Amino acid sequence: MSHLSQRPDAPVVGVSMPHESAALHVTGAALYTDDLVHRTKDVLHAYPVQVMKAHGRVTALDTEPALAVPGVVRVLTAADVPGENDAGMKHDEPLFPEEVMFHGHAVAWVIGESLEAARLGAAAVGVEIDELPALVTLADAIAADSYHGAKPLMETGDAAAGFAESAHVFTGEFEFAGQEHFYLETHAALAQVDENGQVFVQSSTQHPSETQEIVSHVLGVPAHEVTVQCLRMGGGFGGKEMQPHGFAAVAALGAKLTGRPVRFRLNRTQDLTMSGKRHGFHATWRIGFDTDGRIQALEATLTADGGWSLDLSEPVLARALCHIDNTYWIPNARVAGRIARTHTVSNTAFRGFGGPQGMLVIEDILGRCAPRLGLDATELRERNLYRPGLGQTTPYGQPVTQAERITAVWEQVKENAGVADRRREIAAFNAAHPHTKRALAVTGVKFGISFNLTAFNQGGALVLIYKDGSVLINHGGTEMGQGLHTKMLQVAATTLGIPLERVRLAPTRTDKVPNTSATAASSGTDLNGGAIKNACEQLRERLLQVAGSQLGANASDVRITGGVARALGRDTELAWSDLVRTAYFQRVQLSASGYYRTEGLHWDAKTFRGTPFKYFAIGAAVAEVEVDGFTGAYRLRRVDIVHDVGDSISPLIDIGQVEGGFVQGAGWLTLEELRWDTGDGPNRGRLLTQAASTYKLPSFSEMPEEFNVALLENATEEGAVYGSKAVGEPPLMLAFCVREALREAAAAFGPAGVGVDLASPATPEAVYWAVESARSAHDEGRAPSRVGLADDGLPSGTGALSSA
Ligand code: MTE
Ligand code: MOS
Repeated sequence: MSHLSQRPDAPVVGVSMPHESAALHVTGAALYTDDLVHRTKDVLHAYPVQVMKAHGRVTALDTEPALAVPGVVRVLTAADVPGENDAGMKHDEPLFPEEVMFHGHAVAWVIGESLEAARLGAAAVGVEIDELPALVTLADAIAADSYHGAKPLMETGDAAAGFAESAHVFTGEFEFAGQEHFYLETHAALAQVDENGQVFVQSSTQHPSETQEIVSHVLGVPAHEVTVQCLRMGGGFGGKEMQPHGFAAVAALGAKLTGRPVRFRLNRTQDLTMSGKRHGFHATWRIGFDTDGRIQALEATLTADGGWSLDLSEPVLARALCHIDNTYWIPNARVAGRIARTHTVSNTAFRGFGGPQGMLVIEDILGRCAPRLGLDATELRERNLYRPGLGQTTPYGQPVTQAERITAVWEQVKENAGVADRRREIAAFNAAHPHTKRALAVTGVKFGISFNLTAFNQGGALVLIYKDGSVLINHGGTEMGQGLHTKMLQVAATTLGIPLERVRLAPTRTDKVPNTSATAASSGTDLNGGAIKNACEQLRERLLQVAGSQLGANASDVRITGGVARALGRDTELAWSDLVRTAYFQRVQLSASGYYRTEGLHWDAKTFRGTPFKYFAIGAAVAEVEVDGFTGAYRLRRVDIVHDVGDSISPLIDIGQVEGGFVQGAGWLTLEELRWDTGDGPNRGRLLTQAASTYKLPSFSEMPEEFNVALLENATEEGAVYGSKAVGEPPLMLAFCVREALREAAAAFGPAGVGVDLASPATPEAVYWAVESARSAHDEGRAPSRVGLADDGLPSGTGALSSA
């Protein structure tokens, strides 16, 4: 696959175009999984029997009363499972559990003629449990030594020596919250069984192949008896990478046992209480700096809140460790990770997949340490950026090959945002406003692209050319709003040299492309685009031969662009449709399966070293906020971003991803607050934020008042499809600058040089408390953060930071 990054003369890639389904989205005509129910006859409805206790053993399950409810057809329990009663890849997730592991855990499902019948049936099922103690918070689990899964250790250099040479050493602790995906479309599936026993499941899933695998395990049938299709998702954000499988298996089991189509769609409260979220983390750390504020050593322990089962917690934790450096060179490090087992939903992938959590730890450390070092935080960050030409590697041993882009986006965004002038304006504003303060912060992103697990880095495609010259493409990726399908159409049209209108895309199905990876890790375009390009290149090669003989030229002298084949130095042309028809009559195969695998990757999970990533996605952002000193309420006045997407395949799509990702990140860091009942009462473990009314999502009023997104120019990525770079997740992590700006605005209420700790999410309430702590420094006549700092000039671990 040479010249992967090279673009032909008249490419369709690189052209700004709307999302391929934009018109369908805005008119409401786009079909989502549950819309298909209205087009299917005799559909039955499945409804979960949720147990509203956080932990307990099921002692009795009485389904008789449910069967007496009119319209109830069947109650599914563990006894009905012909295969394996498990919904997870780790085999630690009983689909019909004997032990309730979180508040809202479903122990059975009721199938009814109507949704209402199924709901009433579910309410009638009698469940008795022996309650057991529940670990609801991360602190509960850490205190109880409750962990599961791998405990990785990442080491580089010599941390002890690094600390010995450090002029300043600080220690601290930080616990921060997870995040609810809040995709607009909740989990849904529709399962049917045909006359031959073939199971067909339509599922809102980012990972159709794994949904297929779990459905076949549960049904006890080989994979070829199960087909999974995903038309599109109304958002996934990682929440549909692994979580859909068990739900889909319930629908499939229902269809198998009743012989009728079975659908379910979780209502919002069910979705919120039954499905996993972004992992909240706890971190303890110790960091050493030299006299100039350059990081010498870092020691940290990251504890992820895994919830009740492992799900994707191990790879999420691995990515967190692999991103604790973010854009900063850390010569000596020793970072340990572990996964707490709590009695809450099983936390899962969420845009960034642990990367945001790892990076938040180092950004928080730098934000807290800057005042203690007597440095401006932006200056401290700048001094620690990876530098080109020094052969610097990440703490897991991967060379940082594009360090020049880290500094390029940093400098560009500062210039675009007019940082120097605005700092002066902000200082003047703050001097004149005792009760309102503004601040500006700059942060960057370096995000590794590829799955840590090397095997997942492969993609497949199937491209069909029909006799009339129309083209149908299939690939293994799923569409969740991110624009993957749009890009795939552009890649196919470009590679074949035909207009976009000639190409159509078929829904993602496991019987077209097998053994696909999740559409995740932002790698959808790299993997599937590589595979489509490969299939189209095979077809193009064959057609060039045909065209050459028709035009009386060497195949190597023929070009197909804009749907016309021409030979160099000749006047004759051959239209695409004539070329295709000729090829058919010459019995040239007009379909090809394409394949792509990312080369050059290796990863040793045991030593936690290697080159797991093909390249890094890079960006930088500046945010300015204004904080009200009376309430802690704030406004996001302006955001500037420079982000590196390589040579964009679809600029409009990419800018949308940058904007959306940033806002989702800002939501996580500032607004969205998951709360559980942590008391010892009867509702212990209950998710309190069960609706949009109690879980605050970013809305129009929280958008930056001025929002400037620029893509880095002349940024061809060698070795990725048409020189592009992945874009899906990295921009989420640009939002750290919002949190850091809030920290600095809060600090501005105190004496100069004061540092404040800030909770995450930095809700107005949290910001208010940060403001209060800054103000109290006036009363004490010193910075609160300096309390307990024995002598920050000593090379020892004496500088204690209080926890946020
Ligand atoms: N954009 C939209 N609109 N909806 C989504 O669900 N998911 C994000 C990102 N952008 C998502 C999105 C996540 S978590 C990932 S991993 C990528 O899209 C996946 O798609 P890609 O690999 O094609 O970028
Ligand atoms: Mo994205 S969290 O990798 O689905």
